[in-house]
Amino acid sequence: LLAGQEGTPQALGSGFAPANIALCKYWGKRDDELNLPMTSSLSVSLGALGTRTDLSVRDGGDEVLLDGELVPPADSFAARITSFLDLIRSESGPGFRVATQNAMPTAAGLASSASGFAALVLALKEVMGWDLDSRALSMLARLGSGSACRSLFSGFVEWHVGVRDDGMDSYAEPIDCVWPDFRIAPVTVSAERKSIGSREAMRRTRDTSRLYEAWPAQVAEDLLAIRAALRERDFVRLGETAEANALAMHATMMASRPAVLYWRPETLETIRRAWRLREERGIPVYCTMDAGPNVKLIFLRESTAAIESEFDAVEIINPFETATTAKSEY
Ligand code: DP6
Repeated sequence: LLAGQEGTPQALGSGFAPANIALCKYWGKRDDELNLPMTSSLSVSLGALGTRTDLSVRDGGDEVLLDGELVPPADSFAARITSFLDLIRSESGPGFRVATQNAMPTAAGLASSASGFAALVLALKEVMGWDLDSRALSMLARLGSGSACRSLFSGFVEWHVGVRDDGMDSYAEPIDCVWPDFRIAPVTVSAERKSIGSREAMRRTRDTSRLYEAWPAQVAEDLLAIRAALRERDFVRLGETAEANALAMHATMMASRPAVLYWRPETLETIRRAWRLREERGIPVYCTMDAGPNVKLIFLRESTAAIESEFDAVEIINPFETATTAKSEY
């Protein structure tokens, strides 16, 4: 990927990338080193919510800061960044100071590794002077965290599974669909640390869950439905498919030996509340869940008042709001 890109590093660079939530999930890898997925996946980026990374070259080892605080090098957050940097630099360096700031709703439980690696790749592009297009940048971000390859783009994004062993055809691309009324709202049911990281959980599911055998075919079907729903702006089809896809992913995890179960009682309670809104009041609201207990609601702008009255203090995200009009700032 970086052949012919050697130059003299610049002193400073920075990058911003949005967080993203998958509507058709990435779960399971065919290559654990290169983060090559078993299937394609499709997400929506969260506009102005994401990660900003400021990067500078420094003598000595790396230094990682999160929201202004120095992170100990042994911490898994810093260790993951350093091993990613090791992939792109020679043995003689350089060292980097990586200052990361997350702009996420308070404790919303949104994954920051995707936006984090995407922002880091953008900052590195500036510092290293790489002449790379967004496809190459997406593949570089993928090496840090699979879902990071989708955070290079805004709006709806598809990550193509690819067939090559070297991963050179496994990258994300934006989908030509602007949907200003689309909304997503994270409902935090627990801010506790995960019982098992997604990396290990994915591996266990692939290796031990018999239900996982059915997953690739399910994803193929769901992707067709979601692409069609986006084309036709068919929100009900989009929501139904995204929710069913998330539930199917969790079913594959639960069938792992030993089981991977991220849900808490409040997870199910939140899902049931959304279903009640749908069944009793005809509000088209759907749920999606990732590798944790929190639920993200998806709905349209017209349902905002109903969602706000049912879910206390919920923070509603408009993925198509631009950074300049967004309320959230660093
Ligand atoms: C459930 O991208 O965090 O959020 O590639 O091991 O870093 P690694 O995994 P990661 O997994 C995300 C899983 C998911 C679904 C998704 O975002 O598609």
